Amino acid sequence: NSKALVKLVTTVYYGTIVHTPALNQLQVFPNCAVVVGSSGSIINLIPNCSSISDVFTKYNPELDQKSTKIVDISGNPYQFFFPGFVDTHIHAPQFPNAGIFGNSTLLDWLDTYTFPLEASFENLHKANKIYSRVVHQTLQNGTTTASYFATIHPEATKLLSNICFKNGQRALIGRVCMDDNSPDFYSESHEDMKTNTVDVCNHIKQLGATTDQECDAIILPTLTPRFAPSCTAKTLAWLGDFREEKKLHVQSHVSENIDEIKLVSSLFPDASCYTGVYEDYNLLGAKTVLAHGVHLTPLEISILHKNQSGISHCPISNSSLTSGETRVRQLLNSGIKVSLGTDMSGGFSPSILSSARQAHLVSRHLAMKTKKEEDKLSVNDVLYLATKGGAQCLDMESTIGDFGKGKKWECQLVDLKSTGSQIDIFDWQLPDYLIQRGGYHLKIAGRELLNSDDYFQDFHGVGLS
Ligand code: GUN
Ligand code: FE
Repeated sequence: NSKALVKLVTTVYYGTIVHTPALNQLQVFPNCAVVVGSSGSIINLIPNCSSISDVFTKYNPELDQKSTKIVDISGNPYQFFFPGFVDTHIHAPQFPNAGIFGNSTLLDWLDTYTFPLEASFENLHKANKIYSRVVHQTLQNGTTTASYFATIHPEATKLLSNICFKNGQRALIGRVCMDDNSPDFYSESHEDMKTNTVDVCNHIKQLGATTDQECDAIILPTLTPRFAPSCTAKTLAWLGDFREEKKLHVQSHVSENIDEIKLVSSLFPDASCYTGVYEDYNLLGAKTVLAHGVHLTPLEISILHKNQSGISHCPISNSSLTSGETRVRQLLNSGIKVSLGTDMSGGFSPSILSSARQAHLVSRHLAMKTKKEEDKLSVNDVLYLATKGGAQCLDMESTIGDFGKGKKWECQLVDLKSTGSQIDIFDWQLPDYLIQRGGYHLKIAGRELLNSDDYFQDFHGVGLS
């Protein structure tokens, strides 16, 4: 894989553009020219350009063709540009456990597999090795924005933020807070929780300040109480105050598993419900994303709605750990923001495309149970959740998620050309990703992973083949 850094002024991307600006709406613009400025923002989007020279003569006569880089894919009917995927819930340190879960369910899975692995990230050499692989793997799978859970370790967490920054991946980075109901070998004191949380937030804030290239804050901190049972009331209260003071993002887990929900109600007997715990401690807002939400009650849905908080739907994890089926359509119809998370390693794959596939299938299992046709999510629905839904949940809708004017060009170059025989819902090979960041054009060549056949009917139906 080659990584090329080319200093740019302006770039014109020319070819087929596909995105999902609204739920169940897939827009396809053939022969579209996208003019991207040196800051990486989309200046103009011109559909149906008869030729690349038209862009300069007819539409943007002020553009100097000599100093403009052109990325022209118009000659390849199988290729198109698609917004980078947004993974709103992924545990970076759990990568080595991907696919390893046996017959466990959430609480014994945490004790058996997860806590021992995460505890080992005190070793910075290991953290560096695994985190580098995770960022590389997620980028290779088209994830240009990710919201990461790290571990309780401040130095390893800073390392993860450095690696994301260096590789141009937009990321929210969360040092996990755990000062209650956690094993002796993997927990922290309330005092350490405060010191280390502030330390990591400060580190992330100054990322990029040392480089001279123009670069906006692509790495942000996110407060990360692991889940209500892992935190004392004192810690939740401090995090709630800190969130409000610094206007920070928050991520956690909610209503994933029946035993977990029982545990929460025994630990927080005064709370109205699981989601109510986070509300009581002032942790819900438009920048809060809670993972799973498999067993949300109408009360919890109304609390999420009132606080404009989003849900990260993690269908691979929910199937693997037999947590259940999240009622995505019900959430969407209730006005809740919904996105996709790999939840690696509860989920076995670092690919949001795989999560989209699983969301598509799980919704059909749900429909078999509810007998409601509308519970079935379309291909367009899940592609929306994978991109714009993620942008909404992370409160980044004005920056990423689709190809609207003014948004960042954070994009995957998808190639539909079938080379294998495996039939799948999505005919989609591992993408290249293209980002313009701080005046630089980043491109990492994708490698083929997903073999396919002519089965991606929604795309074929709109004339891509
Ligand atoms: N609940 C608390 N911690 C975790 C975790 O690491 N993964 C999942 N899926 N659920 C959790
Ligand atoms: Fe998780």
